[in-house]
Amino acid sequence: MHNIAIQVNDLHKSYKKLDVLKGVNLTVEQGSIFALLGSNGAGKTTLVKILTTLLNQDRGTAIVNGFDVASKPAYVRQSISLTGQFTAVDEILTGQENLMMIAKLRHLKQPRQVADALLTRFGLTDAANRRAATYSGGMRRRLDLAMSLVGTPPILFLDEPTTGLDPEARIEVWKEVKKLADGGITVFLTTQYLDEAEQLADRIAILHEGKIIASGTLTELKKLFPAAEVEYVEKQPTLEEIFLAIIGKKEGQ
Ligand SMILES: Nc1ncnc2c1ncn2[C@@H]1O[C@H](COP(=O)(O)OP(=O)(O)OP(=O)(O)O)[C@@H](O)[C@H]1O
Ligand SMILES: [Mg+2]
Repeated sequence: MHNIAIQVNDLHKSYKKLDVLKGVNLTVEQGSIFALLGSNGAGKTTLVKILTTLLNQDRGTAIVNGFDVASKPAYVRQSISLTGQFTAVDEILTGQENLMMIAKLRHLKQPRQVADALLTRFGLTDAANRRAATYSGGMRRRLDLAMSLVGTPPILFLDEPTTGLDPEARIEVWKEVKKLADGGITVFLTTQYLDEAEQLADRIAILHEGKIIASGTLTELKKLFPAAEVEYVEKQPTLEEIFLAIIGKKEGQ
């Protein structure tokens, strides 16, 4: 039996008349990478906000690291870190200062050592004393990821971690995310990039019209979408084709 890091049951959330989550159910195993896929406006950020205690659900339950988000938000917050959809880096501070600030907020004993170790790990040592305003998009994302790892919480939420990055920077972030999961951290990520889910995720769930309409490993999802036979050559569907087929759209629409 694997231990469960995140358990969501029948989660509902509306913004006034707009029903965004209409009964979401999902389970994330400890130490795995879970990718939540969905189009713009599907409700991915809304779900992440509820799981990270930034927003209350209307109905249903969410348990994170064994704690109920509604009744034990402080315990949930101690168990997680979040890299939001929009980078949380303070531009006026240097990379090192940004990391030290978080280490101090988390009451760690040696903030400078913690900061320097993370700068090294994310290849930012040379830029440590430059203001974050001068960083490239990829460097900023890496700093953001490093900031979310100060204090090494067991569960990491990444809301669209590579949106806006060039292919090289995306691969760098993927590598770091894989290393984290190999080290036992549970990663819950949202993405619109199907190749990102394909590359990283142990399990993938598709959020569409307020519900998880498909979930499983990539192999399981591929089974939902039988390979098309073109003469004698079998063509394996890409995750993109599976995604579009499941949400009922044709490519190019
Ligand atoms: N605070 C809010 N008040 C009203 N409506 C909101 C609010 N936040 C989000 N919404 C709406 O809820 C829906 C889901 O938004 P959400 O940000 O969760 O989607 P998303 O899947 O993260 O989209 P994206 O891929 O663009 O980041 C959208 O229609 C959005 O406009
Ligand atoms: Mg979002």
